[in-house]
Amino acid sequence: MKQILILISFLIVFSYGMVQEQAYPKKPIPSTKVIPPYDFAIIQKYAEEFLAKPYHGLMADTVYPDLEDYFIVDIRSPADYCSGHIANAINIPFHTIAANSSLAKLPTDKTILVYCYTGHTASQSTAILNLLGYDAYTLQFSAMAWRNVTQVGIWSDSHLEDVYGANYPFVPC
Ligand SMILES: *[C@@H]1O[C@H](CO)[C@@H](O)[C@H](O)[C@H]1NC(C)=O
Ligand SMILES: *[C@@H]1O[C@H](CO)[C@@H](O)[C@H](O)[C@H]1NC(C)=O
Repeated sequence: MKQILILISFLIVFSYGMVQEQAYPKKPIPSTKVIPPYDFAIIQKYAEEFLAKPYHGLMADTVYPDLEDYFIVDIRSPADYCSGHIANAINIPFHTIAANSSLAKLPTDKTILVYCYTGHTASQSTAILNLLGYDAYTLQFSAMAWRNVTQVGIWSDSHLEDVYGANYPFVPC
């Protein structure tokens, strides 16, 4: 089961990468936004600490028995959050995760568990939160790992495969 999830996840990342490659210009545009070293020292330190952690994600069956130990953040759309989310999770849509109003909702004394649809944007959010000093982990394979079965597009949106998860409960709003 985990092997299939990992294979499918790689296929999604790879196919996403191909789409990105087509959409972006061949020659990267130089960034004019790089932070001067004396300004990014703390972010760099947190980046190195984050990268030095042995793992950045937690599996569904690891967190499920101790859910109350985590502050759970669902970064999917409000509509998808309301149709069913992990009990006690709050909704902070991905694109707003670094806003002051969002960060104000996050605890500094509890491990944060972030999940999305497949784990990709949760991984990005987890990295961002760690760079800001939060103790955050990604729920590996996110909603896919939680629900019973998810149809996932392989290579394209028209080729769908069933991916099976743990079948843990989602609660509606
Ligand atoms: C976020 O909060 C910081 C610290 O209070 C403040 O300097 C900054 O202007 C705020 N950002 C926005 C977009 O309000
Ligand atoms: C999980 O999905 C499979 C395949 O669709 C189905 O046969 C099974 O009944 C589902 N289990 C639950 C508990 O919903």
